[in-house]
Amino acid sequence: MTSLLTRFGTQMTRLNGVRAIMKDIVETLQTGKEFINLSAGNPVILPEVEQLWRDCTTALLASREYGEVVCRYGASQGYAPLIEAVLADFNQRYGLNLSDRNVLITPGSQAIYFFASNALGGYTDEGVLKKIILPLSPDYTGYGAVSLFPEAVVACRPTIEVDEIHHRFKYHPDFSRLILDDNTGFVLFSRPCNPTGNVLTDDEVRKIAALADAHSSPVFVDSAYACPYPALNFAEMTPVFASNVVHCISLSKAGLPGERIGIALGDERVINALESFQTNLCIHSSRYGQAIAARAIQSGALQICRLMSFAPTTKLSLPC
Ligand SMILES: Cc1ncc(COP(=O)(O)O)c(C=O)c1O
Repeated sequence: MTSLLTRFGTQMTRLNGVRAIMKDIVETLQTGKEFINLSAGNPVILPEVEQLWRDCTTALLASREYGEVVCRYGASQGYAPLIEAVLADFNQRYGLNLSDRNVLITPGSQAIYFFASNALGGYTDEGVLKKIILPLSPDYTGYGAVSLFPEAVVACRPTIEVDEIHHRFKYHPDFSRLILDDNTGFVLFSRPCNPTGNVLTDDEVRKIAALADAHSSPVFVDSAYACPYPALNFAEMTPVFASNVVHCISLSKAGLPGERIGIALGDERVINALESFQTNLCIHSSRYGQAIAARAIQSGALQICRLMSFAPTTKLSLPC
């Protein structure tokens, strides 16, 4: 009997990566027992943040653009007012000179890593395996199954700096193990890191970017918890921008996981490749979510999630 699934079908239906967690959660909740759902990075619903999204929705419903937003398809690259809002904010905030060719809006940032892993990682026409290098492990479990070729994802063991006096430790990339070469498809890490909360230092990021640049390899910095939104960094950090860095943003931890908004900022050629994947996969991200996100960023109101991350007992450092 012929098998229903192809090699990729089998690979994608395995219980790995983010799928394992999502399935676990659904099945656990279905048992009917009472649980506090702390599932898969779900942000707590803060009343002020919920109100922000409610207000943006009210404004959208009352606006003339409503029909244009929800009753029409749009560009794969994303909803123009959101792209403009992100560009204006990032260019002004970090002194950048990004244009609309450097931006892609995706249905959540998880999608960026899937697109990148299969556009830039995996086998070339010549049969060469382009690797996806995680410079430090542990890192986000959602990277575990992003490639159609699992052998493409390679993680490096870290060094661990132990501070016995304060009973702390910190992960650092072990640069003696981080070997990048012409077969490096791209480098990927989360900063701040899920699950460890570790923040690679600015110097470490610059060093990784320079090592990758020597082989024309992009570096995807998963900024799902970074500044400026949601700014859940509990250690000092500055976003690092370089010609080969793709800065990846998620609005999920800024209180909008249900609307699936991811944003990639980077080199035009990389953005183009990711956009092509997106068109074939899903055409574009939900325009309703994009429209309310545009309002929250344009008005500066999204800063509220940054303020909400301050707790009286937390020493928070937010240069960005
Ligand atoms: C580090 C990290 N990256 C990416 C994601 C996926 O986020 P999104 O909702 O934008 O797809 C998560 C979700 O928990 C995460 O923790």
